[in-house]
Amino acid sequence: MGTITFVSQDGTAHDVELVDGESLMDLATSNGVPGIDGDCGGEAACGTCHVIVDDEWIARTGTRSDEESQMIEMSPECAANSRLSCQLRATPALDGLRVHLPEFQM
Ligand code: FES
Repeated sequence: MGTITFVSQDGTAHDVELVDGESLMDLATSNGVPGIDGDCGGEAACGTCHVIVDDEWIARTGTRSDEESQMIEMSPECAANSRLSCQLRATPALDGLRVHLPEFQM
């Protein structure tokens, strides 16, 4: 169906199969992507699923909600394109998406 790539701090790329309707956090944890914990199970309440979306993709992923912002802005690594991956739904339009992992999760 497609691929989403999570890029670790050291540049290692982790490709996972895109599953329509799944959150990026679920895709990462079910595929063993290191650095995505998802401790709250996707409730936007822990901040352990932080990713930074490539600039070229932000128009397609959309920007974060106020609820997301409140959580993610507590991270010292918060960037303009930071998202909680549990709040990002995979769709076929995101085939090829690249997101970057922060050095540390909260
Ligand atoms: S899994 Fe907890 S904020 Fe995303």
